[in-house]
Amino acid sequence: HAPLRVALVGLGTVGGGVIRLLEANGDLIARRAGCPIQIVAISARDKNKDRGVDLSPYEWVDDMNSLATRDDVDVVVELIGGSDGPALTLARQCLMAGKPFVTANKAMLAHHGLDLARLAETGGIALKYEAAVAGGIPVIKGMREGAAANEISRVYGILNGTCNYILTTMEKEGRGFDEVLKEAQELGYAEADPSFDIDGVDAAHKLTILASLAFGTELDFDAVATTGIRHVIAADIAEAAALGYRIRLVGMAQNGPEGLFQRVHPMLVPLDHPLAHVDGSLNAVVAEGNFVGRLFFQGRGAGDGPTASAVVADLIDVARDEYGDAFAMPVAALTPQHKADAGAR
Ligand code: NDP
Ligand code: HSE
Repeated sequence: HAPLRVALVGLGTVGGGVIRLLEANGDLIARRAGCPIQIVAISARDKNKDRGVDLSPYEWVDDMNSLATRDDVDVVVELIGGSDGPALTLARQCLMAGKPFVTANKAMLAHHGLDLARLAETGGIALKYEAAVAGGIPVIKGMREGAAANEISRVYGILNGTCNYILTTMEKEGRGFDEVLKEAQELGYAEADPSFDIDGVDAAHKLTILASLAFGTELDFDAVATTGIRHVIAADIAEAAALGYRIRLVGMAQNGPEGLFQRVHPMLVPLDHPLAHVDGSLNAVVAEGNFVGRLFFQGRGAGDGPTASAVVADLIDVARDEYGDAFAMPVAALTPQHKADAGAR
């Protein structure tokens, strides 16, 4: 079969991981996808940056938006980041031009996911984003497909690898917040602006997406009550441990008679709960369905390898022509959120 021709925009932590993964596992992926998946064009900010990978086989493109209308590109992968700006322009251009679009950009989806899904739906094309929530864990597939037959009452979990790395390393190694955050940045876990991680905003972006999939509601980032871990100090962690708890940044969306409420904040997790044992850059998501019961997804939530794994899984779906509505149902079928008031929280 003819190869799936990919344009890769953004060549940082995740973009570099995608190139390395396709090089390492190309033959296996071709058999699974039914055709080779080949990067044909690349773009980023700085053409001359040394990225530690050989970029000579690929065409460098200065004007990324030109990729939307190129006949020799089958799918565009956006790994730039940012809720607005060049990523959003590229997404709109691609979807309006009928070009399948793969992204890891949860910030953009949390704020503009509905509009982008509408464009994808109008054109009958793929909008895929497995890497946007919980890195390498196939939680979008899990919620969108595996759990699709269930009424979900609650979805919650550890959704930010940087915060989990900070909290668990502070606890285990007794090191300071700033030093461990710097390490998380060096490991490629943190956002370009790490305040998105430590203030809980990144976890809130992911929860916004998960809540839509779980409850069939419109995405509503503003409905998430968010507190980060900036003010957690070593003494809090020690005090929690003395009482038999661990501190984790948890995102939770819960549907009940009083409505849907969504929140992200540091929580005391008892030692006998599985989330207390999710360490380092791991993420975990728990979903409770009325027929399936409790689902527990766990894996690496950040970093080049796991995130690239999720991006390429989306490319395989595009190659197989397996995709459906971005948020599991047509946008018109999503209901507005019936929000619980603050008193119910
Ligand atoms: P990086 O900061 O490592 O890479 C960003 C890339 O985008 C760089 O190659 C940069 O170019 C390019 N870029 C930035 N601004 C522009 C611009 N204006 N025009 C063109 N190119 C631009 O980010 P990550 O790889 O870590 O993250 C990419 C996306 O993946 C983000 O949406 C992030 O939230 C998401 N994500 C990241 C994960 C992770 O673990 N890192 C996990 C899951 C999702 P240059 O290199 O030339 O400066
Ligand atoms: N900055 C994010 C995190 C990357 O630490 O979880 C993965 O989405």
